[in-house]
Amino acid sequence: MAVFALVNVLLLVVTSFIAVASAAGNFNQDFDITWGDGRAKILNNGQLLTLSLDKTSGSGFRSKNEYLFGKIDLQIKLVPGNSAGTVTTYYLSSEGKNHDEIDFEFLGNVTGQPYTLHTNVFAKGKGDREQQFRLWFDPTADFHTYSILWNPQRIIFTVDGTPIREFMNWESIGVPFPTNQAMRVYSTLWDAEDWATQGGRVKTDWAKAPFTASYRNFNADACVWSNGKSSCLGSGQARASSPWMNQQLDSTSQKRLQWVQKNYMIYNYCTDIQRFPQGLPKECSATN
Ligand SMILES: *[C@@H]1O[C@H](CO)[C@@H](O)[C@H](O)[C@H]1NC(C)=O
Repeated sequence: MAVFALVNVLLLVVTSFIAVASAAGNFNQDFDITWGDGRAKILNNGQLLTLSLDKTSGSGFRSKNEYLFGKIDLQIKLVPGNSAGTVTTYYLSSEGKNHDEIDFEFLGNVTGQPYTLHTNVFAKGKGDREQQFRLWFDPTADFHTYSILWNPQRIIFTVDGTPIREFMNWESIGVPFPTNQAMRVYSTLWDAEDWATQGGRVKTDWAKAPFTASYRNFNADACVWSNGKSSCLGSGQARASSPWMNQQLDSTSQKRLQWVQKNYMIYNYCTDIQRFPQGLPKECSATN
């Protein structure tokens, strides 16, 4: 009996390990290139993806799967050198009217000047919740991990494991939150020289084109939505065995978040009184 039980436990451990491991990504398997006419390339047997931008077009890709909650990680190495005017986006989005969206956008800059990391959350069609940051490293020198944790209680934006922003579910006081529309993962590289860099004063230097951003190590610990049903990767047992479903910031992470917000946040809609003369959005003063 005991031996049987032990074997069973071992089998369980082995099978769940395999299931979790299979969540690790391959760009051929997990993504479709959606635009750019050959400017997006999947290389090294699906381990690497590059997007490029020239004067004629940018490029982009999106996940084959739609997810309803999850923890999505992607490593990105941004356009190096003079990236002024370029915008690299990485976001989750549902389709159709009143869509939900969780955004990372990286606004390029002239050589030696810092990128702006722009974030936003749309819920049921409503956005206007921007926060912007500087990074504490050069995002063009190497790959860094940008993650979105999305569960029913909160959305956490993370850079190399450091939380930079938390958006809580305040539906209880009437603030929309993404809860029931499945989203795909998207990324694009495009040109926005009329606004992206220093408010549009600095234009793209097309002599430096093509501009290239690189991607690797996509990972989704997530619930895949298909045919009206959700199944959570990592095990067949859905919510109970998906720790990210209830994940929140522990006290160390809280401190990291405060460190980022104090030292690296350059714009916060929650303090932009001029923009909201009728009063700041409700979630800005909500506390639990
Ligand atoms: C680019 O650099 C300038 C000067 O340091 C800075 O003001 C600006 O916010 C940076 N980022 C963008 C996207 O313009």
